[in-house]
Amino acid sequence: MLNVADLLKRALAEIQAAQDLHALDAVRTSWLGRKGELTALLKQLGTLPAAERPAAGEAINQAKTRVHDAIEARKLALEQGRIESQLQAERIDVTLPGRGQRRGGLHPVTQTLERVEDLFSQIGFAIADGPEIEDDFHNFEALNIPAEHPARAMHDTFYLRDHPLLLRTHTSNVQIRYMLRNKPPLRIISTGRVFRCDSDMTHTPMFNQIEGLVVDEVSSFADLKGVLEDFVAHFFARPVTLRFRPSFFPFTEPSAEVDILGERGWLEILGCGMVHPRVLENVGIDSERFTGFAFGMGAERLAMLKYGINDLRMFFENDVRFLRQFA
Ligand code: DAH
Repeated sequence: MLNVADLLKRALAEIQAAQDLHALDAVRTSWLGRKGELTALLKQLGTLPAAERPAAGEAINQAKTRVHDAIEARKLALEQGRIESQLQAERIDVTLPGRGQRRGGLHPVTQTLERVEDLFSQIGFAIADGPEIEDDFHNFEALNIPAEHPARAMHDTFYLRDHPLLLRTHTSNVQIRYMLRNKPPLRIISTGRVFRCDSDMTHTPMFNQIEGLVVDEVSSFADLKGVLEDFVAHFFARPVTLRFRPSFFPFTEPSAEVDILGERGWLEILGCGMVHPRVLENVGIDSERFTGFAFGMGAERLAMLKYGINDLRMFFENDVRFLRQFA
């Protein structure tokens, strides 16, 4: 006789043992599939004596129904379990303390450059840019510093080996590049890295400069003074006493250096002057019709004065304890 009860027990045990939907499906196939064990039993019905067939058929069909129901129940349980463990795994404990995020910040020199650009933009200056690797013409020649000019000795230039190029010693090269490409009236501010073969307490081989240039039919030394006084007052956000001291630059005439009055006396912050007529001629601007003024300053120097930093080297050491104070 067919032992339906034993088979049913085995089937139910396998269903309970299935640990996931995939395994459960395999169990279903092995019992109820076309080649499944219960299906096979039904096929054997024909071999039984006619009198036993109805009872056996009924027993098998009942077993099939129970197996089917058990599989459905197990399936529901497995799905439920999966959802629950997923919920458990993704549970957020809102009572945990936050991880906290440390906000980065801009380097004080970058902040200074951006602030200067911002202030000059507000009064209509365009922001201009130029290359750090430059040629003799734009860095010297066009700025009225010919080959044998003594001013060249003051620049401690880095020259490139095997190339007739150099690292710009100042941002004044941008004046030349901009004037060659644009017609007056011009108003530009330019910031960037410059390089000099010089290193001690107060000099680093790389530092940042800020360059300004105005060329117009009417631009006077009084305008230059006004622009600089206005800029300095806004930059330091307090009234500042300035002193214009006669000086010399090959590319400006007359030239001046500007000092500000600090706690320990006068401190030089920039060089400036009226653009030398020869510089205008060098870039094809009619020096009878146009005049201009220009100025250049060191960004690190400005930042030191603004933030009360007394050692230039702090800017280049990347000590986070220092930098964090400006974040
Ligand atoms: N280029 C000068 C330097 O590196 C600074 C300077 C002085 C720039 C006077 C100017 C200027 O535009 O008019 O020391």
